[in-house]
Amino acid sequence: MSGQKRQLSKRCVVLTGAGISAESGIQTFRDQNGLWENHRIEDVATPEGFARDPQLVQHFYNLRRAQLLSPAVQPNPAHIALAEFEKTFRGEFLLVTQNVDDLHERAGSHNLRHMHGELLKARCTHCSSIVPWQADIELLSPCPRCHRSGSLRPHIVWFGEMPLYMQEIYDALRQCDLFVSIGTSGHVYPAAGFVEQARAAGARTVELNLERSAANSFFDESYQGLASVMIPQFFAQVQHPGA
Ligand code: OAD
Repeated sequence: MSGQKRQLSKRCVVLTGAGISAESGIQTFRDQNGLWENHRIEDVATPEGFARDPQLVQHFYNLRRAQLLSPAVQPNPAHIALAEFEKTFRGEFLLVTQNVDDLHERAGSHNLRHMHGELLKARCTHCSSIVPWQADIELLSPCPRCHRSGSLRPHIVWFGEMPLYMQEIYDALRQCDLFVSIGTSGHVYPAAGFVEQARAAGARTVELNLERSAANSFFDESYQGLASVMIPQFFAQVQHPGA
């Protein structure tokens, strides 16, 4: 990444995936030993799987929630560099994450959208309330709003469901002049297609990932390495309006 020219950006959209949280101790999905190596997506990440075996699905997300809350899991220098960049950037900034952990928030990011939901929230299938949730969700846990028991599910977007904030994300992509994709394998749409939207808007498109992603050929620039090393370096060279 050395030798990059400083380039001015006024509207920046960043997309993150599981790779940015890997160095914080959270398993990715498709790497060796990733979550999808030991669990079938159909079983734990679809509405049909939940209908078939809610206990299995709740257990899967209960384990992940408990792990996220363990003291060993903390934001790493990549999360922190993004939060610092947002604080000092004088243009418009939107951080879109596919991650359901809260490490971006803990690092201090504000203008952040969790397009695949959040592990630390539960959703009531009866009254549609979305509530903060840190404990296990038990099969008969009552909804804190409508008090119906057995209606809570993880606030996670499963395969076959509509990701969140899509209108706002597409609006930002249509106007951005810099799009940076970090730590995502480019296998899951619609996120994997954001680079094409940004390209159509004339944005500079940059991929920062451990390896070339499936969407690699759509990017103007692509750098391979650890997020904790590349993210602080990359954002240090983005020039702000008026800076
Ligand atoms: P993946 O597990 O598919 O991809 C993670 C990417 O991060 C891989 O390309 C790795 O090479 C890269 N990576 C791993 N460690 C890294 C590091 N230290 N620094 C930089 N890159 C690193 O995860 P996602 O692309 O986020 O959806 O997966 C997208 C969606 O698929 C997830 O949100 C989830 C999953 O099914 C749902 O559950 C709805």
